[in-house]
Amino acid sequence: MGCPCKIYNRMIPPEGSKNPEIYIVGEAPGKLENIEGVPFIGESGQLLRTAMRIVNKAIGRKFRYRINNSCLCSPKDKEGNIRTPTFAESMNCSRIHLYSDIAKHPPSKGIITLGKLAISVILGENIKSMKQCIGSVYEFHGIKVYPFYHPSYIKRNGGTSSLLFKKLIDHIEEVLTGKKQITKISTEVKLNYEYIVVKDEEVDKIFEEEILNKKYICLDIETN
Ligand code: URA
Repeated sequence: MGCPCKIYNRMIPPEGSKNPEIYIVGEAPGKLENIEGVPFIGESGQLLRTAMRIVNKAIGRKFRYRINNSCLCSPKDKEGNIRTPTFAESMNCSRIHLYSDIAKHPPSKGIITLGKLAISVILGENIKSMKQCIGSVYEFHGIKVYPFYHPSYIKRNGGTSSLLFKKLIDHIEEVLTGKKQITKISTEVKLNYEYIVVKDEEVDKIFEEEILNKKYICLDIETN
């Protein structure tokens, strides 16, 4: 997988089944994920994976999952430390990687988004707080989307002995049963985006031939 965002760390690809029941979307890889090259294997990943193991035990089988992130690389701050991606950075990365991976591997039961950035890229809207969406079930290109808190938030609020952790387990089980009805529709985000790189001298021609008949366009102009 190539990525045009050259300013970032290495890109961590999705992990899990090609035919998932649940597609899990997180925020961005952390320190350990950058070393090992696998999403959600650090401390919050361990919390998530513990919850998934408890669900497996409860249902008597291993459910099929796929884990990905809104941003596949971790951006760095000025000191070179990993920082949280902005909404714009996550949207950029999701348009290139996440949406097409969901289209290629649609989950049979639904998408679980973890944290604010993950639900924001699915809705194509920078939501202000998890309170805005928690408890809702969205519809994203025919797939049910169930937002939940990010495991790092659960870790900061009592970890595996907290009520929130129990709620995460119930949340995963609820997605697997599929009984919850859709309450909100997300229609803004397209699954496949076309990219063209245009040189200065080609802009007029491309505008006439390629761009004017499109409903939405996004320009990224590089200056020197
Ligand atoms: N947090 C995330 O959101 N994703 C990871 O892969 C690891 C931690």
